[in-house]
Amino acid sequence: MDSILVRGGRSLSGAIPIAGAKNACLTLMPATLLSEEPLTLTNAPRLSDIRTMTELLRSLGAEVSTLQDGRVITMSSHAANNHIADYEIVRKMRASNLVLGPMLARHGHAVVSLPGGCAIGARPMDLHVTALEALGAEIELRDGYLHASAPNGLKGAVHELRFASVGATENTVMAATLAKGTTVLKNAAREPEIVDLVHCLKAMGAQIDGEGTSTITVEGVDRLHGATHPVVADRIELGTYMLAPAIAGGEVELLGGRLDLVAALAEKLDEAGISVSETPGGLSVARRNGRVRAVDVVTEVYPGFPTDLQAQMMALLATADGTSVLEERIFENRFMHAPELMRMGARIEVHGGTATVTGVERLKGAPVMATDLRASVSLILAGLGASGETIVSRVYHLDRGYERVEHKLSAVGARIERVRADG
Ligand code: EPZ
Repeated sequence: MDSILVRGGRSLSGAIPIAGAKNACLTLMPATLLSEEPLTLTNAPRLSDIRTMTELLRSLGAEVSTLQDGRVITMSSHAANNHIADYEIVRKMRASNLVLGPMLARHGHAVVSLPGGCAIGARPMDLHVTALEALGAEIELRDGYLHASAPNGLKGAVHELRFASVGATENTVMAATLAKGTTVLKNAAREPEIVDLVHCLKAMGAQIDGEGTSTITVEGVDRLHGATHPVVADRIELGTYMLAPAIAGGEVELLGGRLDLVAALAEKLDEAGISVSETPGGLSVARRNGRVRAVDVVTEVYPGFPTDLQAQMMALLATADGTSVLEERIFENRFMHAPELMRMGARIEVHGGTATVTGVERLKGAPVMATDLRASVSLILAGLGASGETIVSRVYHLDRGYERVEHKLSAVGARIERVRADG
């Protein structure tokens, strides 16, 4: 397994291009199952999760081809004839469950393995099931698989999600596009990736209103046609790289960054004494001198502070002047980066869903281990600001969600390299 070696202590300067959003692409790709005609995505990120989704769609009989070194993905599911999403693929990536709604809507049945737990939590699918049942689906759990059918087709309904789940919103909206009649989904998730999905579905002929608000209304149509859609910028990659100069010092421009996608983070960075400004090319983040100020963070559904940036923010607050309290309200086990940061000298106390971070002057490089996607990048960020060498192992987690992280960071002056497992 590859590792990443970081030699800290150097401030950053230059520009980092922001790629298309992993979590948008992972819901846009299954949308191809809703139509017989080709769906093309541009500005697609080159990540192992996208390759896993490609593998899954091909296993269902869809044709998937890529151009421009993976930046353009063209899919066609006119010949898709297998409706079983196998455990071997689904267990690698929870987002595989996003083929459930589209398959059910197009073919009237689907068999999708439950993803099983992952490092950050149990991640059940009860909200997906109850929402699709409200549309008339019959869903039974057998041998670890959800067996879903809609013998008389799906019918529009009014349904309120108990929790504003991103995936449940995506599965339900995609299914509702081909249901008979009107669906009103209440307490829907408002994440930008859902807005991007709806824009793509509308380009395919779907009739949807309210995206980005808590109530999404879908008028079912008989069929959807093909489209070409640009994947929205990745707000989590953007936020991650905004924290690089905040931690290491210096000034970095994030090309393609949009302030509206990271407003909650920008507000916290401003509170901490980091300047964030819009530029013609995107966003610029600068940290002149002195320590950052401690700030408190609570993760919430969008537009609140994103859970996917909590680990990276903790890496910044580990050297803030003062004590910060981070409350993780979305996942039940998302502080696994804390013990690794403590190996670098961070002072963190975790009690349930709350982590209290008492800032120290500087972290010290150390060998640390990545446990999940966002934890792994928080350790790299911490290494940028630490003295000495930090080596992050198990970086396969990292490659799921960050394109060429060592190239992007070394381009702005970081001393970072990938150490291949085979020496
Ligand atoms: C999406 O996961 C993202 N993944 C996650 O990003 C992100 O952390 C999460 O939304 C929250 O923003 C993709 O978009 C591919 P949820 P999702 O359904 O849809 C509970 C990353 O690092 N829940 O909003 O799975 C669940 O256990 C990943 O890129 C139920 O209880 O998130 C969790 O505690 C990590 N029952 C909370 O809701 C359900 O049926 C949020 O889950 C579904 C979810």
